[in-house]
Amino acid sequence: MTHALCPRLLLSPTASAGTPAQQGRQSRPQQGVEIIGTGQFLPSGTISNHDLSKLMDTNHDWIVQRTGIANRHRADLASGETTKVLAANALRAAMQNAGITAKDLDVLICATMTPEMTCPATANLVANDVGMAHGASFDLVAACSGFVYGLNVAHDLIKCGTYRTIGLVGADTLTRLMDYTNAGRGTAILFGDGAGAAILRATPDATKGIISQAMHSDGTGWKDIYVPNTPHDFPSGIACDATKFGHVQMNGASVFKFAVGTFSELIQQTLDKAGLQASDIDMFVCHQSNSRILQAARERFGLPEEKLYVNIHRVGNTVGASVPLCLDDLRQAGRIKPGMKVLFLAFGGGLTWASSLWQM
Ligand code: COA
Repeated sequence: MTHALCPRLLLSPTASAGTPAQQGRQSRPQQGVEIIGTGQFLPSGTISNHDLSKLMDTNHDWIVQRTGIANRHRADLASGETTKVLAANALRAAMQNAGITAKDLDVLICATMTPEMTCPATANLVANDVGMAHGASFDLVAACSGFVYGLNVAHDLIKCGTYRTIGLVGADTLTRLMDYTNAGRGTAILFGDGAGAAILRATPDATKGIISQAMHSDGTGWKDIYVPNTPHDFPSGIACDATKFGHVQMNGASVFKFAVGTFSELIQQTLDKAGLQASDIDMFVCHQSNSRILQAARERFGLPEEKLYVNIHRVGNTVGASVPLCLDDLRQAGRIKPGMKVLFLAFGGGLTWASSLWQM
């Protein structure tokens, strides 16, 4: 983070004393960051495995065995239930939970890969809907990793002293990008719609906030998950097929292999940076992509079941909403509390992957 992003640092009264290195240390505001509220919104419409089996050649047992998913929520686009509506509802719930109003927000970040439109950003529309009259709002596009990228970005914007209160929303409506025919059956079974939100705020307790974090991307893997809209969007070697426009194209086996390996490496890397063991972590809040991927990580690190939360059977893969839905479930159930160490992890299209280890 540069000083250009942290104007208060330039004005710090301590900045004139000591060596440049000391000045940097001294001028850094001694404050922490805490998550003071969370919320979620799931549309009332659902698609069960039974519903899918009426649309394509699949069945409940196959889907549960391969993915752990039994049900997903589906936004009703026809009645205007779009990404911004889900996002605004989740944000309102999080603000209520935090005991703040939209006037308290300095920044609003919306992590989504299904924006309302190309311009303006979905975050601008959500800010307008919830009555956030001032401050900055922008979208963050990192597919399923979006919320965890957002946690790291929002945390550091507060930590450097520039902003005090940030709303972070993960919202996606992937069901509108699914092909509910046999041609799309390997992908359409996975995804559901939803939104989750968190409110991050500066605290004088400097021990609170991120202990270690990682953000990665590898653009060479873009063709493993993409949404073509024009003939130019297909990878070389794959013929243009207009019936695929607007539908998620995924190489399931390749993503599966990437995810299993990446998840373990990411956990180890984040723990190493923090000088901690897996047993030191109170809760793992992971992107819900496939229960077999989560199970592999749990076994690799010998984690007890209650430390790696799973809600995929109820909601499927909700992309940017996946991690904040888990976070809100766990906070509401009293399973994430102040004082705990919580590790957030996600991977997805891009390819992207990220972690955020918090002292709550
Ligand atoms: N119902 C029934 N059969 C299906 C099916 C469905 N919905 N989808 C595919 N099949 C069939 C295939 O046609 C194939 O049949 P064949 O052996 O006769 O050719 C067989 O099942 C196995 O297909 P395969 O694609 O190898 O299955 P898989 O074990 O890899 O499971 C996924 C498919 C998508 C569940 C799995 O690859 C996966 O979860 N990948 C990760 C995806 C992911 O996490 N994406 C999001 C990243 S954020």
